[in-house]
Amino acid sequence: MSDATAKKEERRKFQAIRGTRDLLPPETALWNRVEQTAHEVFATFGYGEIRPPIFEPTELFARAVGGETDIVSKEMYSFEDRDDSSISLRPEATASVCRAYIEHGMQILPQPVKLYYTGPMFRRERPQKGRYRQFYQIGAEVLGGTDAPAIDAEVIEMLMTYFDKVGLHGATLYINSIGHNAENCRRGYVAQLKAALEKVKDQLGPDSQRRIDTNPLRVLDSKLESEQAIIATLPHIADHLCDDCKAHYAAVKRQLEIRGVLYEENWRLVRGLDYYMRTTFEITAPGLGSQNAVCGGGRYDGLVELLGGPPTKGIGFAIGEDRLILSLQESGKGQAQQGRDVYIAWMGEHAYAAAIRAAKDLRNAGFSVELPPVEQKFGKALGQADKLGAKYALILGDNEVSEALWTLKTLSTGEQQKLPEPELIDYLKRQQ
Ligand code: HAM
Repeated sequence: MSDATAKKEERRKFQAIRGTRDLLPPETALWNRVEQTAHEVFATFGYGEIRPPIFEPTELFARAVGGETDIVSKEMYSFEDRDDSSISLRPEATASVCRAYIEHGMQILPQPVKLYYTGPMFRRERPQKGRYRQFYQIGAEVLGGTDAPAIDAEVIEMLMTYFDKVGLHGATLYINSIGHNAENCRRGYVAQLKAALEKVKDQLGPDSQRRIDTNPLRVLDSKLESEQAIIATLPHIADHLCDDCKAHYAAVKRQLEIRGVLYEENWRLVRGLDYYMRTTFEITAPGLGSQNAVCGGGRYDGLVELLGGPPTKGIGFAIGEDRLILSLQESGKGQAQQGRDVYIAWMGEHAYAAAIRAAKDLRNAGFSVELPPVEQKFGKALGQADKLGAKYALILGDNEVSEALWTLKTLSTGEQQKLPEPELIDYLKRQQ
């Protein structure tokens, strides 16, 4: 390395890698609230938390999500481990949950097994608003038991209950059924779709042209303006579902209606992962621009078997937490509280001892407290308290200590009162 390069390296300012970001206060308070609400709501539906590892064998994702999908073919962060095996940062967690179900023999537990997770996922996508390379999901999976349409409907009901509790308004639920892989259901449809696509091939863009061979269903996902009119003329899957799939889809819709869950049907909703069959769904939320899908999910009977486990039914979803937070912020529901309950303005050695005692007692009682480490004039301290958004300033000076009467100032009104030390906490509790 030349001297000049070495100097430049020394002065290098480090920045978070493109597509990743620091989540900072006060916003992290909102992230915590959103996650806490998930813990609470999912528990009321009988789900337990699973925390799978962040990396897994590359082959697990290739087999589960599909080798031809964008996620696996271009977006995974893969690297060689010491033993030359390939491992990947997880691009999603359904594959991991199914792997864990098999590995821990969960089929012997009472079925279905209901699990949820929160955490970071990694996809090498082109970063933009609502699309990151490290992003966070809150997901849930139901494994085992039956494929009763009531299960599909309850999963979706839980999701909508969660969005309601967390304060997300204006969300739209889209549903579809993509049938299953048996002879005369999806396979028949895909053959017809492929034939129809071949006829209009030269009017399609390069991505869609490529997909005619690799994954024709994904053409339906295209957002390209110039392709929309052509896509509208393609055959619909609903006309090709077998009787069982048709009945299942009709029953899911009925079950949603019984639960009072509003939905819209979208025949183009095929999803970008290969493991889906029958029910698919997506939820869009306002304020997100082009990346407006805040949640995606569906049924994946057969995935556990594909990964070497017993025949097992499965359904689940994942919420894009980054997008959920963005939408909440855009709608004004995302205001996070930053302030402190009490700022302690102290002057003098005796007052400092009282201030330390007060801070300890208040924190033990659950109040957030700012105790300045060095003495400062009351004027400056009150200015600081305002800047931090504190509700109260507890003023402790020589007078307060000698009279054993503390001064509490309500910062929003400027009102001031004297309180004996033992009454402070009770007084603040009454004001909450
Ligand atoms: P997915 O549709 O790939 O499904 O992702 C689910 C959600 O994660 C998306 O709707 C979106 O909100 C969010 N998301 C995806 N990629 C990004 C990104 N690059 N930046 C920000 N947010 C993103 C799955 O992952 C399936 N595992 C869902 C599932 C669970 N299906 C059944 N069980």
